[in-house]
Amino acid sequence: MKNSKIKKSRDGSILSNKNLLDAVAAEVVVCTKCDLWKGRVKAVPGVGSPESRVLFIGEAPGQAEDLRGEPFVGAAGKLLDALLVETEFSRADVFITNIVKCRPPRNREPKPHEIETCTPYLNRQINIIKPRFIVTLGNHSTAYILSRARLPFQSITQERGKVHEASILGLNVAVFPTFHPAAALYSAQYKKQLEEDFHRIRDELLKRGLPSPSIS
Ligand code: URA
Ligand code: SF4
Repeated sequence: MKNSKIKKSRDGSILSNKNLLDAVAAEVVVCTKCDLWKGRVKAVPGVGSPESRVLFIGEAPGQAEDLRGEPFVGAAGKLLDALLVETEFSRADVFITNIVKCRPPRNREPKPHEIETCTPYLNRQINIIKPRFIVTLGNHSTAYILSRARLPFQSITQERGKVHEASILGLNVAVFPTFHPAAALYSAQYKKQLEEDFHRIRDELLKRGLPSPSIS
């Protein structure tokens, strides 16, 4: 582990990225800051390698995720796993989370005030992970991340498949928007475009020596 990634607690003990992410997760699982907590079985803070510099951001948990407390474990998750094969990396090599950590009722889209209330958790995760590459999955996560980067956002159709060199929370990071994997469940055209995008993600990651400094 690199020294730059080691933080110390007040008593001087060393806090790893895992310790710091676990602390965020511990707050998320008991959070009642917006009304979405009322409908949840489990909150979904995120999973993956705490040392990865590659972050995937989806929208919000669905039913399968709510039951398991893990992101992308339902039908869209199976597709995400299949798409990750295109990158030649696995779930364990990256960190995966969502814009909103609790399931919206009947899987409706998250509302602006829910996104505003929940994203401080995402921002803390970004500050800990210090990603060099962020893949935004779908409209909401792309709109949020590009707005943090003060970059314009028109539509996911326009932004998908492009690398945006950005500054987010003081970090230099490449942002790569693509469709939400759920889109591919209903459209062969979206599926094909997602596969192309994930192939491109592989090239962009290899070019940068990612997903983690220890994986060449
Ligand atoms: N869709 C998402 O955006 N996130 C999940 O975790 C599952 C489905
Ligand atoms: Fe808290 Fe986010 Fe869940 Fe709302 S969605 S209760 S802000 S963790």
